[in-house]
Amino acid sequence: MNITMNKPATNQAKKISSHERPTKVDVLEICDLHANIGKLKILNGINLTIRSCEIHAIMGPNGSGKSTLCNVLMGHPKYEVVKGSAKFNGKEILELDPNERANLGLFLGFQHPLEIAGVSMGNFLRLARNLNLKAAGETKQISPMEFMPMLKETVGLLKMDEKFISRSVNEGFSGGEKKRAEIVQMAVLKPKIAMLDEIDSGLDIDALKIVAEGIVETFKKTGLGVLLITHYQRLLNYITPDFVHVMAKGKIIQSGDKKLALELEKHGYEKFPKVDNR
Ligand SMILES: Nc1ncnc2c1ncn2[C@@H]1O[C@H](COP(=O)(O)OP(=O)(O)OP(=O)(O)O)[C@@H](O)[C@H]1O
Ligand SMILES: [Mg+2]
Repeated sequence: MNITMNKPATNQAKKISSHERPTKVDVLEICDLHANIGKLKILNGINLTIRSCEIHAIMGPNGSGKSTLCNVLMGHPKYEVVKGSAKFNGKEILELDPNERANLGLFLGFQHPLEIAGVSMGNFLRLARNLNLKAAGETKQISPMEFMPMLKETVGLLKMDEKFISRSVNEGFSGGEKKRAEIVQMAVLKPKIAMLDEIDSGLDIDALKIVAEGIVETFKKTGLGVLLITHYQRLLNYITPDFVHVMAKGKIIQSGDKKLALELEKHGYEKFPKVDNR
C-alpha cells in the first residue's frame, strides 16, 4: 500500500504571511489512479493529495511515470485512465477537457515546453489570463495597458529581457529560457495547483536560482499548491518541500520530508523497495 497520508504543511504555511495566505484551501486529491498507453500500464495506482500552501516533490528513476502523471492530470489525450479518480475541490476532473482543467486552476509547466509560432508571449498570456477570468465568472477583462506592467515586472523577476514579451511563445528560446518562460506563465496565470515537470533541467547555476526564486515568490504571493518533479536535490536547496515522494514503476513507493531527497542524493534508488506489478 502507498504511504500517501499528508500531514499539514506547517513549515511552508509559516513562510506565507497571514494576509497573503488564501482564505480558501484548494485540494487536488488523486485516488488509486491507473493509466495506460495502449496496452502498456504506466500509472499503477497513484494516491496523492496536494493542498494550497503545500510543496510536494516527486523524484524517481527515468521512465517511472512522473511526466505521465502530470499529463494525465492535465488531460493529455494519448493516455487512457483505466481506474481511479482525481478530484479538484471535490469535482472529478478526469472527464474534463484540458481547458476546463486549466480554468479550474490547474497548471502544468512542461518538461519540454512547446513552441507556438506566430503568437507573441504577451498576447498569449493576456488571452489565457482573460479566459481563466471569464471561466471564473469575472466580467472584467484585463486590457493590454493593465497587463503589460505586470508582465514586465514578472519577466524582470525571472531576469529575462523584455523583448521576450513580443517574441513568439518559446520559438527559438534556449532550453533555459523556455523554463524561465514557464515560470512567467505560472506567475501570470495564478493557478491554484501548479505541476512543474523538471523545471530545473537544462538550467545553468544562476538560472536555477532565478527560476527557484520565481517559484518561491509566486508561492508566497498566491499560496498555490506545487508539485515539483525533479531528479536533483539541488533544486530543493532553494525550494523547501513539505513532502518528498519516490515514484517507481507508476507507483509512489515512499513518502517523507526533505530528508528523503537528501537520502536519495546520497544512495540513489537502490535502497528503496522495488515494486514489480507490470
Ligand atoms: N507513446 C508512448 N508509447 C510507449 N511508451 C510510452 C509512451 N509515452 C510514454 N511511454 C513510456 O511510459 C513510461 C513513463 O514515461 P514518463 O515520461 O512518464 O517517465 P518519467 O518518470 O517522466 O521519466 P523521466 O525522468 O525520464 O522524465 C516510460 O517507460 C515511457 O517509455
Ligand atoms: Mg519526465
